[in-house]
Amino acid sequence: MPKPSIAIGMVGYKFMGKAHSNAYRQINQFFDLPLRTRLKTIVGRDANKVAAMAERWGWETSTDDWRRVIDDPEIRIVDICSPNNTHYEVALAALDAGKIVACEKPLAMNGAQAREMAAAARGKINTVWFNYRRVPAIAFARQLIDEGRIGRIFHFRALYLQDWTLDPSVPLLWRMDKDVAGSGVTGDLHSHIVDLSNYLAGEITAVAGTSRIFVNERSRPEGGASKVEIEDASIFVAKYADGAIGHFEATRFANGRKNGNTFEINGEHGSLYFDLEDMSRLWYFDSREPKHIQGWRKISVWEEMHPYMKQWWVPGCAIGYEHTFGNQAADLIAAVAADRPMKPDFDDGLRCQLVLDAVLEACESDRWVTVVKQ
Ligand SMILES: NC(=O)c1ccc[n+]([C@@H]2O[C@H](COP(=O)([O-])OP(=O)(O)OC[C@H]3O[C@@H](n4cnc5c(N)ncnc54)[C@H](O)[C@@H]3O)[C@@H](O)[C@H]2O)c1
Repeated sequence: MPKPSIAIGMVGYKFMGKAHSNAYRQINQFFDLPLRTRLKTIVGRDANKVAAMAERWGWETSTDDWRRVIDDPEIRIVDICSPNNTHYEVALAALDAGKIVACEKPLAMNGAQAREMAAAARGKINTVWFNYRRVPAIAFARQLIDEGRIGRIFHFRALYLQDWTLDPSVPLLWRMDKDVAGSGVTGDLHSHIVDLSNYLAGEITAVAGTSRIFVNERSRPEGGASKVEIEDASIFVAKYADGAIGHFEATRFANGRKNGNTFEINGEHGSLYFDLEDMSRLWYFDSREPKHIQGWRKISVWEEMHPYMKQWWVPGCAIGYEHTFGNQAADLIAAVAADRPMKPDFDDGLRCQLVLDAVLEACESDRWVTVVKQ
């Protein structure tokens, strides 16, 4: 008997639209899921371009009106892959219509929006695409922390480094437009490493930092030029509820760095280190080993017992960026089939957003800012 299917409607069809479409198309082959994903409707602003996308990626229909996915009673999951300023309106409408919502990060433009969205989503299945939690090596880092292998955490240190806006002739695309993105590297890049810190290191209570705009004016894609109002780079330090301290850096001006996402965690018994550009490895230092054989161990996270790995290929055949979305999509479908909550959810999105708000305020005011309680 064919499996029952679950219809998906997706808003946005470019970078994340492709990543999520690819995930929904792959997971039934690799994961044993009780529901078959049905790519029903995809939305974009340009009817012709989104129709071409639908044809190429196997969506049944396309439209330039996102309300059509909200109004379609067959669609159960609404997946939001459009720019940050659309998340609030689309997610609230979808939740109101009883849909399961999967929203890209950052959850919202600010904490106030995120708080409303989290309240509307509570008690329902929902998720935010903090997909780096689904990198097997990062899920494995969490496992090692839960097993007590590094003990009490003293430091979380994360960098998210890119260089694509360094050239002043790059126009003011939506990621640099304050009205659309909400903030610069804070919402775009810090959101990922703050979520990883929330996942791995605990609750951030206060932050202090500084940010810079290195190129003050850019041309607009539609013509003319505008003052740049979002930060190109931001560095902050953080205090944690349990006494740990953290250091975060996000920039689009790190010449030579494309998607350099690294973190190190130092604990009382050992340390962990991860680098997205070598994403199958997790580095582990265990200070409880005899001193004469101590050293950083490079663990290849591709054995059957490692998170997610038995679903894909055999050990040694590494998986990549797109599989993080597959892993999250598979977890979402499994959660829906079992009617159980999914993580990270909108409350995790809110938790992250409240830290980001504090970072923006700290950089603006040049002082320590307490993170507003969830
Ligand atoms: N999880 C990740 O690693 C990751 C990576 C990149 C982007 N993102 C997030 O995904 C979202 C989309 O980013 P992207 O890189 O895919 O952007 P993109 O520019 O590649 O694509 C944006 C899409 O949204 C559509 N769109 C724009 N405004 C719209 C509107 N008002 N109504 C309907 N559709 C609209 C566009 O037509 C386009 O298809 C952002 O929130 C971004 O922060 C997450």
